[in-house]
Order: sequence, then structure tokens, then C-alpha cells
Amino acid sequence: MFVKALPLFIALGFFIGKGPAPADFEYIGSAKCKSCHNKATTGAQYKLWAAGPHANALAKLSAEEQKDPKCLKCHATVGHTDVKLQYSLTKKEGIGCESCHGPGSAYKSMSVMKSREKSVAKGLIIPDEKLCKTCHNEESPDFKGFNYEEYLKQMAHPNPDK
Ligand code: HEC
Ligand code: HEC
Ligand code: HEC
Ligand code: HEC
Repeated sequence: MFVKALPLFIALGFFIGKGPAPADFEYIGSAKCKSCHNKATTGAQYKLWAAGPHANALAKLSAEEQKDPKCLKCHATVGHTDVKLQYSLTKKEGIGCESCHGPGSAYKSMSVMKSREKSVAKGLIIPDEKLCKTCHNEESPDFKGFNYEEYLKQMAHPNPDK
């Protein structure tokens, strides 16, 4: 009887010992945000991003530099996020939405997104100056200085409906 139940005890011990798994939100890529964030009436964030400096940051690098982790770290989302969490993220999108707004796998559904509180609990980041400075700093060989108010204006993508 005891011998028969042993594997069950081991299995239970394993799960209890592990405790609740930490939430590993994954990077899904900017294309997944497009369906809801590309309407002119709510700010066409995808279109603005695609034409802006961040989506095109990878293209600023030569073919060789595009393979260099030292450059990718600030020029593409794949370069500064955990490879294990890159679900459908590709290098070619450069610095995607999720570089600033956090991995989207759990907040991307309408029921979550409608509430800022729920979205933040599921991994959404409301970016601030500190986040920008993780890339806009002296470690960049082309650093031109960083004025938050001014730079924010150049890449703003507000929702006029709010
Ligand atoms: C199913 C539709 C849907 C998808 C997919 C979606 N969103 Fe949203 N999102 C919304 C809605 C609706 C709102 C609330 C209205 C608004 O703020 O524009 C919102 C709000 C936001 C906000 C503003 C939050 C706030 O409170 O200021 C951000 C930032 C955002 N989404 C980023 C993203 C990113 C990044 C992705 C892709 C990873 C994404 N969303 C995917 C529907 C969506
Ligand atoms: C710490 C983050 C960071 C790293 C590391 C980094 N860059 Fe950049 N890079 C930036 C930022 C931010 C800008 C925008 C310039 C600005 O406004 O300060 C930029 C701009 C550029 C530009 C455009 C310059 C212009 O005047 O238009 C090129 C080219 C470039 N980087 C190449 C590289 C190469 C090559 C590497 C690797 C050797 C690299 N970067 C590493 C953050 C970084
Ligand atoms: C993951 C790294 C990263 C983050 C985070 C980031 N940036 Fe950038 N940013 C870059 C790189 C790299 C470039 C250069 C792209 C290019 O030259 O086309 C750039 C370019 C820009 C430019 C164009 C500047 C120019 O010289 O033409 C503006 C404006 C800007 N960023 C604003 C911001 C703001 C505001 C934030 C925070 C809300 C931010 N960035 C966060 C990496 C980043
Ligand atoms: C370089 C960083 C950066 C990138 C890349 C970026 N955003 Fe944002 N986003 C911001 C900042 C900063 C704000 C303003 C936050 C605040 O309200 O204080 C913002 C605000 C928003 C808002 C809220 C607008 C409002 O007025 O309520 C939405 C929605 C949004 N972003 C969606 C996106 C989507 C979708 C993408 C990709 C297509 C994207 N963002 C890419 C930095 C970024």
C-alpha cells in the first residue's frame, strides 16, 4: 500500500515544493498590437511607431552591427529582453512597443486592456523618463543628450479619444 502510493507522494511533494509558478509574461511582437492600436480615431499608435525612430533603429546598423549584441542591446527589443520569453518577437521590428510597454502576452486581450489596473497587473508598463534612459545614455556611441519633454514630443502617440 505504502509502496504503491510512493510515486504520488513524490509527485505531490514536487508540486508543493515548487510553489506557484512566477508569472512569465512573453514578448509577442508589435504586429499583435496593430489590430487594436491602428485606428485614426484612437491615435493610430502602430502607424506612428512604424514611421518613427524606434521601429527603424535596427536599420541604422550595418549588417555586421545587426549581429552584435553590444549594439542590439539598445537597437532591437530582441537584444535587451530574455530570449526564453521571446514568443513571436522578431529582430526586424527593431525597438517594438514591448520595449517600452512590457511583454504583452497576458495584457493583450480586450477585457484586460480596457482597465489600466488589470493591464498593469498583467505586465503593462506605463513608461517614464527612467525607462528611456536605459538606452538614451552615455553608453551609446552616438549619444546626443536627452531632454525628456522634448524627446517625448517627437515620439508621442496619444489617444485623442481619451
Ligand atoms: C484586443 C485589442 C487590444 C490589443 C490586441 C492591444 N490593446 Fe492596448 N488597449 C486596448 C484598449 C481598448 C485600450 C484602452 C483605450 C486606450 O487607452 O487606447 C488599450 C490601452 C493601451 C495602453 C494605454 C494604457 C493606459 O492606461 O494609459 C497601452 C500603453 C497599450 N494599450 C499598449 C498595447 C500594446 C503594447 C499592445 C501589444 C503588445 C496592445 N496594447 C494590444 C486594446 C488592445
Ligand atoms: C546604451 C544604448 C545604445 C547602445 C549600446 C548603442 N546605441 Fe546606437 N543609439 C542609441 C540611441 C539612444 C541613439 C539615438 C541618438 C540620440 O538621440 O542620442 C542611437 C543612435 C545610433 C545611430 C544613429 C546616429 C545618428 O546620428 O543618426 C547609429 C548609426 C548607431 N546608434 C549605431 C550604434 C552601433 C554601431 C552600436 C554598437 C557598437 C550602438 N549604436 C550601440 C543607443 C545605443
Ligand atoms: C530600447 C532602447 C530605447 C528605449 C527604451 C528608448 N529609446 Fe529612443 N531611441 C533609441 C535608439 C536606438 C534610437 C535611434 C534610432 C535612430 O536613430 O533611428 C532612438 C531615438 C529616439 C528619438 C529620435 C532622436 C533623434 O536623434 O532623432 C527620440 C525622440 C526618442 N528616441 C525618444 C525616446 C523616449 C521619449 C523614450 C522613453 C519614453 C525612448 N526614446 C526610449 C533607443 C531607445
Ligand atoms: C520608446 C518607447 C515607446 C514605444 C516604442 C511605444 N510607446 Fe506607447 N507610450 C510611450 C510613452 C512614454 C507613453 C505616454 C505614457 C504616459 O501617459 O505617461 C505611451 C503611451 C501609449 C498609449 C496611451 C495613449 C494615451 O493617450 O492614452 C498607447 C495606447 C500606446 N502607447 C501604445 C503603443 C503601441 C501600440 C506601440 C507600438 C506600436 C507603442 N505604444 C510603442 C512609449 C512608447
